[in-house]
Amino acid sequence: MPEFYDVIFERRDVRGEFTGEAVPEEVLLRILEAAHAAPSVGLSQPWDFIVVRDREVREAFADHVQRERAVFAATLDAERAATFATIKVDGVRESTLSVVVTYDPGRGAPAVLGRHSIADAGLYSVCLAIQNLWLAATAEDLGVGWVSFYREEFVAGLLGIPEGVRPVAWLCLGPVTHRQRVPDLERKGWRGRVPLADLVHRDGWRGR
Ligand SMILES: Cc1cc2nc3c(=O)[nH]c(=O)nc-3n(C[C@H](O)[C@H](O)[C@H](O)COP(=O)(O)O)c2cc1C
Repeated sequence: MPEFYDVIFERRDVRGEFTGEAVPEEVLLRILEAAHAAPSVGLSQPWDFIVVRDREVREAFADHVQRERAVFAATLDAERAATFATIKVDGVRESTLSVVVTYDPGRGAPAVLGRHSIADAGLYSVCLAIQNLWLAATAEDLGVGWVSFYREEFVAGLLGIPEGVRPVAWLCLGPVTHRQRVPDLERKGWRGRVPLADLVHRDGWRGR
């Protein structure tokens, strides 16, 4: 098992390196247990995990992603569009399975302790579960790719998600040939990592 900080820095968003090989059920359950161990506002645990192995469902989603990719591409100027054309935004077809993580604002409501003034705290909690899942999968030497090129109504309809529950992430999961050392977007010249020093403020926004 790698060291904790190794996992943090080796984690990558994976799209092009999935092999499609099997993920044993016990490994999947360990990863989901790690997600479920995340902190949540008021211990609301507002997440659900939909494991999607069905090929037809994944194909339907992958087609939808391609349509949304085109919608985004149409908003770009020629130079950005040329760069974007070289970037793969999902590995839905190539990965072994998908896990869709949802947010149920009704879980534990109405008195969600700590959410009365910040409604988004529920959504933050789901994102922490997703990050736990991502890191656990990395520790298991698997890859994860977060896909957000979708309309929530489409995914809700495709998976029969109840009214009011929001799909927060479509995650592709599975064994990979390797993990890139540098994020895809950086390698392709889309955007680089900002130096930490530019982002750390001391004693207020202006203080550096
Ligand atoms: C909320 C969220 C949504 C994302 N959506 C996509 C996506 O639709 N397609 C994609 O290729 N990557 C997606 N990513 C991955 C980011 O592009 C990636 O995290 C970033 O480029 C840094 O790379 P790294 O995760 O390998 O460090 C998403 C990441 C987050 C956190």
